[in-house]
Amino acid sequence: MTPRRVPSTTEALLQLAQRMPKAELHLHIEGSLEPELAFRLAERNGVRLNYPSVEALRAAYAFKNLQEFLDIYYTGMSVLLKEEDFYDLTWAYLLRVHQDNVVHVEMFFDPQAHLKRGIPLGVQISGIRRALSDGKKQLGISSRLILSFLRHLSEESAFETLELAQPFLDQLDGFGLDSSEIGHPPEKFARVFAKCREGGFRITAHAGEEGPPAYVHQALDVLQVDRIDHGNHSLEDAALVQRLADEGKILTVCPLSNLKLCVVKSMAQHPILTMLEQGLRATVNSDDPAYFGGYVNDNYRALIEHLPLTREHLYDLAHNAFDGAWVSAEEKAHHLNELNRAFARA
Ligand code: HPA
Ligand code: ZN
Repeated sequence: MTPRRVPSTTEALLQLAQRMPKAELHLHIEGSLEPELAFRLAERNGVRLNYPSVEALRAAYAFKNLQEFLDIYYTGMSVLLKEEDFYDLTWAYLLRVHQDNVVHVEMFFDPQAHLKRGIPLGVQISGIRRALSDGKKQLGISSRLILSFLRHLSEESAFETLELAQPFLDQLDGFGLDSSEIGHPPEKFARVFAKCREGGFRITAHAGEEGPPAYVHQALDVLQVDRIDHGNHSLEDAALVQRLADEGKILTVCPLSNLKLCVVKSMAQHPILTMLEQGLRATVNSDDPAYFGGYVNDNYRALIEHLPLTREHLYDLAHNAFDGAWVSAEEKAHHLNELNRAFARA
């Protein structure tokens, strides 16, 4: 069989996307649980998965919307019981993205989903943190950890979680808001995020993934977020686009996630180039890579293969991620210097 001919410019862009150093700012660590690891942990912990095989589990990853995904995502977590399970999960992700030249990651975890199953917060954080520390030492990947509140639960439950987190605040870098968006607007969590901000923490929130532009407005006005996760529906509101552009807000966009959850109809219709053209500071992220068909480089590949992406777009997307990372000015300068070197060599 003759290999498919790929225009050399596309090939060059794919290679550059692979080679350039990258920061990932939107990653749910529980969403990196590959079926193979899920079965291994299920066996180790004596947990029964409702699927006969890895293939059957993977075949169930077909979603019409966010909720259909979340139902499977929360079920998949049932295999995570012990500190070493959280370690193995996080370490597997870090090893995988090291191949993609990810050098910095800011990851979410969903403690309420584990507390509900009786897993203490200290067990969760210790396992994740130990892997992040090994990731820094052995792979050179720096990281931040973001505690994400589940928005389908009450603000009271979020407050209880924040209370439980008090002994571990030095191991957390920020707070987020995820899960079922429609019907659970950011303003529902106004007081708990005010408390997080008082503690000096950074804030980010999923907004405008399925929800309306009003939810993005609320994330900005009420929660006073530092970043917006997804933000796709912002494009329906010209004044909001102008505001996001003026404020230089980073949007953590997740192309394969958007396709899998039917936020976009096809990759060719993904709005990431429109976002950049309208002055929005978009970045490329994987969200839940085990469920959505790929890690960061797969997301870049999908964009390159389906949209008229240029070298400049690639640079801007990678640059925005380092610029939006919650790291010191020195670290930022170091990463941007490395990014410039990768482009100078290309
Ligand atoms: N959206 C909302 N909540 C989530 C997601 C997502 O894409 N992934 C994990 N929790
Ligand atoms: Zn997400």
